[in-house]
Amino acid sequence: MKTRLSVLRDGGWERIGWGLLAVGVASASALAACGGLGDPESAEPVQAPPSEDALQADVPVAAATIPTDANLKVAFIGDTASGEDFRAVLQLVKREAADLVMVQGDLTYDGETPPEWFTAIDAEINTSSSKIPYFASKGNHDSGWSQIGSGLKTRMSSWNIPPENNDPTKKNYSVVYKGLKVVMVSDEETSSPSRADYINQRLSGDEHIWKICSWHKNQRATNVGPKSDEMGWTVYENCRKQGAIVAQGHSHTYSRSKTIVADSAQTVDSTCSGPFDLCVAPGKHFFFDSSLGGHDIRSKNSTVASKSYWGTTYTGSFGALFIEFHVDGDPRKARGYFKTVNDVIVDPPTSSGRTSFTITRAP
Ligand SMILES: [Fe+2]
Repeated sequence: MKTRLSVLRDGGWERIGWGLLAVGVASASALAACGGLGDPESAEPVQAPPSEDALQADVPVAAATIPTDANLKVAFIGDTASGEDFRAVLQLVKREAADLVMVQGDLTYDGETPPEWFTAIDAEINTSSSKIPYFASKGNHDSGWSQIGSGLKTRMSSWNIPPENNDPTKKNYSVVYKGLKVVMVSDEETSSPSRADYINQRLSGDEHIWKICSWHKNQRATNVGPKSDEMGWTVYENCRKQGAIVAQGHSHTYSRSKTIVADSAQTVDSTCSGPFDLCVAPGKHFFFDSSLGGHDIRSKNSTVASKSYWGTTYTGSFGALFIEFHVDGDPRKARGYFKTVNDVIVDPPTSSGRTSFTITRAP
C-alpha cells in the first residue's frame, strides 16, 4: 500500500510522490539503522506504510531539518505528587544532568495544592545553582490546572522560553526548546480544536527533527499498569504520521514500545524491530509511559506486559526515562534509558548487556 506525501518548497506544499518521505538531510547511519530507506533520489518506496490513512495527503509532512542542541537530555516523568519520593526523582534528574523535565500529568493528589507542587520542584531544580526548566501536561488529578498553568506560564517567562502556541493555562500548548518540538495536550477531550486536531495543527509541516507528543492518559494497549482505553487512537496515529514520539503517564508503571507503524494494531516495524534500537520517521515512532514519578507504584498487567511489541516494561521503584537527543555529533541520533532513584538502569535491562537504547530519525 502506498501513501502520497508532500514537502514544503518555495512557500507551498509540493507532492513528492508515493512512499515514505525521502527528502532532507539524512545521515548514512540514520538510513542504515532504519532499515535502509534507500537512495533519497529514488521515487520507489522501499517499505509499504501500514494503512491507507497512515499518512494522509491532507496532513503535510515536512522534511525534518531543524536539529536540537547537541546532547539535549530530557527527563520524562509522570504522576509525581509533591512528596519526598518526587524529590528523590528530581535529585536523580539532577545527577543525570538533564536539561529539561517533561511531566506527563498528575502533579497534585489528595488535596495537594499547586503551590505545594511548585515548592517541591522549585526547591530541587529551579534554584540559583540548579536551574532545569520544566513543562507539564494536565492529568486527571490536576483539578487546579488554572493555577498550575499560570505557574508554568510565569516560570517559562522567567526562563525566557516563550510558548510556540497557546500557553500552559490553555491545557493544549506547544513549545520549542533548544530545537526540540513538544506538543502538550490535555487528558480531557476538548473542542475547537479537539486534541487530535490540535496535534495535527501543531505538527503539520513541522521541520524539527525531534518531536514529542505529551499527554497523561493511555490506551489499554499502551500501558502495562491498570489503565484502560481513555485517549483514543487518533492522537497516537496523528503523532506517528509526523514522526513524533508519544510520552504518556497515568499508569504508575514504566513501559516503552518497539518501533510502531500502526498504533491501534500495535504493529512493529518489520524493518526496524529491535527492542533497543528504534527508528523514528514519518509513519513510525514509539510510545512510552514513564509514570513512576513519585506517587504510587502499580503492578504490571501480565497479559499486556507479555505482548511482543514492547521493548521494555518495568515496575518496582520510582525513576525517570531520560532521552538525550543529537548524540555522537549526529543530529538524527538519540539515546535513552530508564533509571531508578537507586541509580539502576532498568531499560535496557541488565540482561541486554546494554546501558541505553538508540533512536534514529530518518529521513
Ligand atoms: Fe492519572
